[in-house]
Amino acid sequence: MYKKYYKNFLETHKGKLHLAAHSHHFWPDITRDAVIKSWDDSAKYSDKKWEYIFTNIVPKAQSHIANILNLSHPEQIAFAPNTHELLSRLLSCFSNNDSFEILTTKSEFHSFSRQLKRLLELPNISAIIIDNESPTFEEDFLSHVKNADFIFISHVFYNSGKVLSFSFLDKIIEHKKDKSILCLDGYHGFCAIETDLSKYENDIFYLAGGYKYAQAGEGACFMVCPKDTDLRPLNTGWFASFSSLDIPQEKIDYANNGMRFWGATQDLTPLYRFNYVWDQFFNDEVSIKKIDHYIKKLQIYFIENFEKTQLLINTNLDTQGHFLTLELSSHKLCEKLHGELEKNNILTDFRANRLRFGFGLYLETEDLKQKMKTINQIVFQVVG
Ligand SMILES: Cc1ncc(COP(=O)(O)O)c(C=O)c1O
Repeated sequence: MYKKYYKNFLETHKGKLHLAAHSHHFWPDITRDAVIKSWDDSAKYSDKKWEYIFTNIVPKAQSHIANILNLSHPEQIAFAPNTHELLSRLLSCFSNNDSFEILTTKSEFHSFSRQLKRLLELPNISAIIIDNESPTFEEDFLSHVKNADFIFISHVFYNSGKVLSFSFLDKIIEHKKDKSILCLDGYHGFCAIETDLSKYENDIFYLAGGYKYAQAGEGACFMVCPKDTDLRPLNTGWFASFSSLDIPQEKIDYANNGMRFWGATQDLTPLYRFNYVWDQFFNDEVSIKKIDHYIKKLQIYFIENFEKTQLLINTNLDTQGHFLTLELSSHKLCEKLHGELEKNNILTDFRANRLRFGFGLYLETEDLKQKMKTINQIVFQVVG
C-alpha cells in the first residue's frame, strides 16, 4: 500500500525483512529529489543561499513540525544536526549555577546518559535517576520533581517502546518549580504517534529529529522552545542572532525566538528531505494518524503470529510505540539472536538484553507472513 514511496531502498534490500525502522527508517524516494534540489539551490544562490534557506526551507520545516505537533509558534523551533547538540546547548545555560539537580530516568538515549555521567564529575551537578520500569515509577519520579532544576524524560522509551502518558506529564508540570526546565525527548514518538503539544507549548522543551519515523535521514533534529524563554546558552554560534551580525555588540544578544538555540553553519539539505517527505505525505493525505493505524495493524499481525509473546515487554499497543521489544536473559543471547536473524535476512537491532522489532510503512502483512515461520524457528533455537 505504501511501498510505492520506497522503491529505491526496497530495491537494495530485496529478500530482506527490515524490522529496524525504529532505528533508521527507510527514506522515501522523494528524498533523492530533495537532495538534488538542495544542490541546485546552492548553485543558484551561492552566497545568497542562507537568505533563501532561512526564508523558504526553514520556515517550511517549522510549519510542518508545528502542524504535526499542533503548535501555534513555529518560530520557536530550533534546528541542529543532532539532538545531542541541542541538549548540550540547553544544558550550557546553567553552567554557572552553584548547584544544579537533574531528574531523569534510567532509560534515556545513549548520548544523554553519557553526557550526564560526564557532567556528574563536576562538583555543582547532581542527578536523581529513577527506574522507569519500577511499579512505583510515577510516585518515585514525582517525589523528586519539586527539587529538580532540569527534568529530562522520553515520550517513548528507546529500550522498551513504552509510551509515557501525558497525564503523567501534566503531573510533572504541576509539581515542578517555576524556573525548572522540563525537556521531553520525543524522538521515538515524533511522526509515529499522534502528539498534540498545544497545551504544553509554553511549559516544555521538546526534542526530536529526522532519521527515525520522520523519514528524513540524519541531520534534521529540532527543539521546540517555550515562547517566553530568555535562556542564554553559553554554547552559542552566529546563527543564534542574525539580526546583530553587522552591529558590534557589547553584550552577546540572542534572537527573540527559537533561533537563540541555533549553533552555526550546518548543512541544511536534511531539511529539504524532511520538507519533501511531508509535502508528499500530506498532499497524499497520509496523516500521522493513518500511519500509526497502519503500523499497529502490522504489530497486531506480528503479535498474533509470534510464538513467544511472553518474551515481549509490552503487547498493549495503546501504550507502545512503533517497535516491539523482546527481553532475553543476557546481552550475549540477544546478540546471538540478532545475528541468527540477520543471517536469515531478518534485520533487527538490540540494546543490552533487549531486541527490537520495528515496523515501517514499507512493510506489508504479506512480508511478515513470509518470514514469521523463520522468526519463530530462530527464536526457538536460540532461546529455547
Ligand atoms: C530516544 C532517543 N533520543 C534521541 C536520539 C538521537 O540522538 P542523536 O541525535 O544525538 O544521535 C535517539 C537515537 O537513537 C533516541 O533513541
